[in-house]
Amino acid sequence: MCGIVGYIGKKNAIKVALEGIKRLEYRGYDSSGIVGFHSDLSHPFLKKSVGKIASLEEKLSSIPNASCAIAHTRWATHGEPTVANAHPHHCCNKRIFVVHNGIIENHEFLKGVLSREGHKFISATDTEVLAHLIERGLGLGSLEDTVRDALRHVTGTFGIAVIDSQNPHVLVAARRGSPLLVGVGNDEYFVASDAAAVVNHTKKVIYLNDNEMVVLTPDGFDIFDFSKKKLNKTIDTIDWDIEESKKGGFEHFMQKEIFEAPQVVKNTIGGRIVYKDGEVKLGGLEPVEERLYNVNRFVIVACGTSYYAALVGKYLFEEYARVPVEVEHASEFRYHSLPLDKNTAVIAISQSGETADTLEAIKEAKRKGLLTLGIVNVVGSTIAREVHAGVYNHAGPEIAVASTKAFISQLVVLALMAVYIGRMRLLTSEQAKVILADMLALPDKIVKILKQDAQIKAMAGRYKKFPNFLYLGRKYSWPVALEGALKLKEISYVHAEGYPAGEMKHGPIAVIDKDFPSVVIALRDSVYDKTLSNMQEIKARRGKIIAICENGDKETGNHADDVIFVPKVTEAISPILSVIPLQLFAYHMAIARGADVDKPRNLAKSVTVE
Ligand code: G6P
Repeated sequence: MCGIVGYIGKKNAIKVALEGIKRLEYRGYDSSGIVGFHSDLSHPFLKKSVGKIASLEEKLSSIPNASCAIAHTRWATHGEPTVANAHPHHCCNKRIFVVHNGIIENHEFLKGVLSREGHKFISATDTEVLAHLIERGLGLGSLEDTVRDALRHVTGTFGIAVIDSQNPHVLVAARRGSPLLVGVGNDEYFVASDAAAVVNHTKKVIYLNDNEMVVLTPDGFDIFDFSKKKLNKTIDTIDWDIEESKKGGFEHFMQKEIFEAPQVVKNTIGGRIVYKDGEVKLGGLEPVEERLYNVNRFVIVACGTSYYAALVGKYLFEEYARVPVEVEHASEFRYHSLPLDKNTAVIAISQSGETADTLEAIKEAKRKGLLTLGIVNVVGSTIAREVHAGVYNHAGPEIAVASTKAFISQLVVLALMAVYIGRMRLLTSEQAKVILADMLALPDKIVKILKQDAQIKAMAGRYKKFPNFLYLGRKYSWPVALEGALKLKEISYVHAEGYPAGEMKHGPIAVIDKDFPSVVIALRDSVYDKTLSNMQEIKARRGKIIAICENGDKETGNHADDVIFVPKVTEAISPILSVIPLQLFAYHMAIARGADVDKPRNLAKSVTVE
């Protein structure tokens, strides 16, 4: 949902900021822009472009030297993706430039006031009011004071970076509701929406909280709250490397991330399973262990792929921890009167840790006095810092918009948590050992699935012409069906619906014919016979079937047109395996249909608007 970067220092600021937004392109890519100053430049160097950042780069054939720059990659909320609506936005006399991530909710009102005062607006964005509001206060104090004062009039969310062409040695940035961090280098300083933009320059970062601002100069930085109080904040160290955010020989980030699954599972499990005792160690939950003993109900809130992981979590927690679980779309959590008592705990699942709906759900749960837990991949992200306690995924940076490895790691964390909470209750060490042993064996099993990549690619070639797909699964495989359908929709723009297999006869079966294929997860699990009946129902209507079956199953394939095999594993963690062929299928379908896999149209990886 838009990425912002600002730089002040000795390197060419325009080049550094441009490189930074390229690493944030996953946050939005419908248009982009950059502005830079240097005391030797008579005018600010401003360039904007519609489309991916590559088109902005093409416009930057000669880049002047600049000591200070801000840049933006956009995912449109207010105003179409046009050059006029692309950031940076500026005030009437092109003195103040602003990049913004978030939504200024009272922009219509502010625009009215400012227009009546004579300010001229040239875009259809909410952001432009910020530039004019700041311009209006110029001369009354420092840039920092002026920005602070302007923000007093604003409602909504923002992560902003502001520069003043008449004062090229200062960059001011502020946040409320949208992520922002400060990168601390040697005589160079950054602001960015995400550490990916700065990690090749520095690993030292400071995460800003809501209602905090930073003033960067070539000599250092100061952080204040909005009441002007100077803050002493901790400097965190990023624990991953730039190499992890590169494609590493793969064609696409999505492909690379699917193939990382074996290592991701190892990293997520790493040091957390004490097999001999049938125990799980989750350091992040230890501070709330006492409270967890008393929890009698969990509500899991999440969006998109993380929501489907939550559905698997429900089955896992209910089976292994014997605690009832409800799963809520985070965007709906606040809108109904869910009766909650003090023994309900709310778990947020979020890869990015920045999804606005999930964050708001957690804030609501905290307001109600509930224990909140996070399952988050991005260390130091807003949700990770907002919850009382949590478990990090350790999946490493996920760059492709369509989530794959993060989903795998979320399922692993949920299984670990189910055992951890189960062992506080009735789950015996021996019962725990069964699932834990299977978890430890997952990486090798995933490798076997990935070896079928060429076969899945060939299959996608055969199915690429079909415009609709139905994905079916029961029990643990139902969320897998939902996730498989979502992957296909997201990146290949093929319509796909996920359904609990048993529900097929209550509607979806009406659409089945020879041109409407189904993907059925038909493992030899506790619901196998019933799923097999559903496959027969499809076949009776001449529907094509792609079946995900267990290794060694010679029978189920007879009811399918194509089969992909996955190794046998405890049912509760079977989604970790069965989803992988579906991720690969979606990937190859998208390629076969000529879609941009890593940057699907209309989507953004991190959705920081509600
Ligand atoms: C966006 C992304 C999805 C992701 C969802 C939730 O819609 O495109 O891939 O699953 O947000 O994101 P989160 O970071 O909270 O897991």
